[in-house]
Amino acid sequence: MNNQPARDIIIAPSLLAADFGRLAEEAASVAAAGADWLHLDIMDGHFVPNISFGPLVLRALRGRIALPFDVHLMIAPVDPYIQAFAEAGADHIIIHAEAGPHLHRSLQAIRAAGKSAGVALNPATPIEAIAHVLDLINLVTVMTVNPGFGGQKFLDGQLPKITSLRRMIEASGHAIRIEVDGGVDKVTAPRAIAAGADALVAGTSVFGSADYRTAIADLRRTSGAEAG
Ligand code: DX5
Ligand code: ZN
Repeated sequence: MNNQPARDIIIAPSLLAADFGRLAEEAASVAAAGADWLHLDIMDGHFVPNISFGPLVLRALRGRIALPFDVHLMIAPVDPYIQAFAEAGADHIIIHAEAGPHLHRSLQAIRAAGKSAGVALNPATPIEAIAHVLDLINLVTVMTVNPGFGGQKFLDGQLPKITSLRRMIEASGHAIRIEVDGGVDKVTAPRAIAAGADALVAGTSVFGSADYRTAIADLRRTSGAEAG
């Protein structure tokens, strides 16, 4: 059903599924295996029911890894921490539409820090939540699981939302990527791409595999075959 032009697809392995005892080595491995971005999940134990790591870990990795850092902030309030993640070496800062009352202000802060701005949408959040900030964002992250944990099942119910979002973005004239995050593997990736996504976050399906290069190549190939 896909009548969209072929797009370059970004593969962003999520370090949440890596061996935390060897984070830098794991990040270097996916970089060498063909990843485009490194996805870093920041969880505060409040906005989501889990705690991961903060800007100090980001900074330590920054010195060793050249990939763009795609930093997904699952924290509320988020404004007090934007500068810290910007200075620690984030390239993209993604905040949740649900994390605070002043999304526009938070996005302005990200742009003022010189970073790409993204907004993540929880499964229950409609695309209208970002209709009035499209001029400020480079990326929308559609959560295809409830955020907080890796290894969950992809929510197929989010696919129509991705398609509506792609239409909304095209009508706006802005160049905005749609990233899908949660349960992405070689079965679900082509569905997300066909629906209109052009960036794939993949934790378990990359770090849980025996060969990162094959896992990344599989995601790229299955997505390309379906989307092309
Ligand atoms: C979930 C995180 C995801 C997670 C994806 O809250 O935002 O980035 O690491 O992991 P998988 O690919 O295992 O669903
Ligand atoms: Zn994420």
